[in-house]
Amino acid sequence: MANLLSLNELSIREINDILDRAEQIRVMGEEGWFAPNHTIVANLFYEPSTRTRFSFETAEKRLGYEVLNFSSTTSSALKGESLYDTVRTMEAIGAEAVVIRHQETGYYKQLQSIDIPVLNAGDGAGDHPTQALLDLLTLRQEFMNIEDLTVAIIGDLRYSRVAKSDAEVLSRLGCRVLLSGPPEWKNSQLPGTYVSVDDAIDAADAVIMLRIQHERHENAMQMTKETYHRLFGLTTERALRMKPTSIIMHPGPINRGVEMDGELVESTRSRYFKQIKNGVLARMAALEWALDHRLYEANKIEKAKQ
Ligand code: CP
Repeated sequence: MANLLSLNELSIREINDILDRAEQIRVMGEEGWFAPNHTIVANLFYEPSTRTRFSFETAEKRLGYEVLNFSSTTSSALKGESLYDTVRTMEAIGAEAVVIRHQETGYYKQLQSIDIPVLNAGDGAGDHPTQALLDLLTLRQEFMNIEDLTVAIIGDLRYSRVAKSDAEVLSRLGCRVLLSGPPEWKNSQLPGTYVSVDDAIDAADAVIMLRIQHERHENAMQMTKETYHRLFGLTTERALRMKPTSIIMHPGPINRGVEMDGELVESTRSRYFKQIKNGVLARMAALEWALDHRLYEANKIEKAKQ
């Protein structure tokens, strides 16, 4: 068993093994995963989620796991039960892994004595490792060599965990990462080069637009949505200047007309729904990786590559 907390804790080899396994599942369909094994997995979502929560649940069901869904609004968390006690309780009930989204950056540090794998489904403004995996999977399906790519990440760089997880792993893989957005949301911790929005969009092979993380901002945004869209958004005019083979990505949820023109969401350049589809594959592979290293040790991934 293993935790999946941040891709920084995995070697590039391990990341590629998970992505190869996700691709193997896509190609083989139902033949590509194993029979139901009745492993119980608990999904603990303390923050709202549509994509991550339901794609984890779909991945778990496809793998034959029994799923316990916890909601912070209908559980004893409302009576003040701590995250630690909740996870210990899930472990005592019989969960063999927990998938957790929580508003506290680095929440998992308090869970070091937990004996079952923890899969991070997003920690505050920290990490979103399975989003980064599905983004990598999407890029691998679109381009021959990830290391040759220029990837622009644009928007709320300070508070976006997707920006952090993507920028870090893309840099490790050798990509050129361009960063852009409002100066007040600049994040000096992120690897990458700051450029103007126009320069980022013109140069990128993939443009990743970010949602504004209003829920993490200390102060209300000073500019209107229209001004944000004009200054920092992917407008149809900016999209027209993208390179012929460049693609548009977004982790979702999208605020159409703010970070991206609504028309672009389902344009030929957009991979938005492909990313969501890949989320199920990446999470199936991540769950197997966390719960059953034997699959990887038995070299089944190697076989898939042949
Ligand atoms: N990308 C993402 O994390 O979306 P959700 O918040 O809907 O899970």
